Amino acid sequence: MKGVILAGGLGSRLYPLTKVTNKHLLPVYDRPMVYYPIETLVKAGVTDILLVTGGNNAGDFLRLLGNGKQFGLKHINYTYQEGEGGIAQALSLAEHFADGDKIVVILGDNIIEADISPQVRRFRTQETGARLLLKKVSDPERFGVATVRGNRITSIIEKPRRPKSDLAVVGIYMYDADVFNHIRTLKPSRRGELEITDVNNWYLKRGDLEYDVLPGYWTDAGTFESLYRANSLVARKKGRSGK
Ligand code: G1P
Repeated sequence: MKGVILAGGLGSRLYPLTKVTNKHLLPVYDRPMVYYPIETLVKAGVTDILLVTGGNNAGDFLRLLGNGKQFGLKHINYTYQEGEGGIAQALSLAEHFADGDKIVVILGDNIIEADISPQVRRFRTQETGARLLLKKVSDPERFGVATVRGNRITSIIEKPRRPKSDLAVVGIYMYDADVFNHIRTLKPSRRGELEITDVNNWYLKRGDLEYDVLPGYWTDAGTFESLYRANSLVARKKGRSGK
């Protein structure tokens, strides 16, 4: 299985913090944001990684990460997203890298506590389709929101005004190689982006979408509130563990 980290975009919700740098290079407690998704993948045994960046200061990722030695990697792959076409458009740039393999995709601003090895292992044995991670949150209207019945997802709605559940779709997605064929058929949403929620709904309609509930904390870090929250969650954890 291969890993794809999406670290593009202009980070406009964090302006002026992102005026002279990329959102994913901003600090989260003691490390740059992009370190966290890399560590999430490496911990889960996913070491063949593509970083999709874009916007400003793309070259700084290379300066910061090099060939990934500090994460125990021999090599990191990089590619560049022109403009702001959305998560699914950024993912489409990974087709050549994936080369028919299954992939784990992680948004570069998603910070989690848990080791996702068990969930990745489950996806390794899943023959086809996609697997999502869901998490109970107090502000579901900010996210893709899933409703579930038993072990099946029954709907996913992107940023609903009146959420039907408090289960957010975490920015970690596992897909088979079909994902790229489907992205080619997507039309831009009202915000002018190719939406990852449309991709997930396609798998849902095919009856080929599984999920796990993510243990531990989860936050994105793309707004002032959530970036602050990410910092304090990591600080508290580090304080507790002394590492
Ligand atoms: C994106 C997705 C959303 C998901 C969220 C997780 O939202 O569209 O479905 O729940 O990431 O961080 P965005 O960050 O583009 O607002």
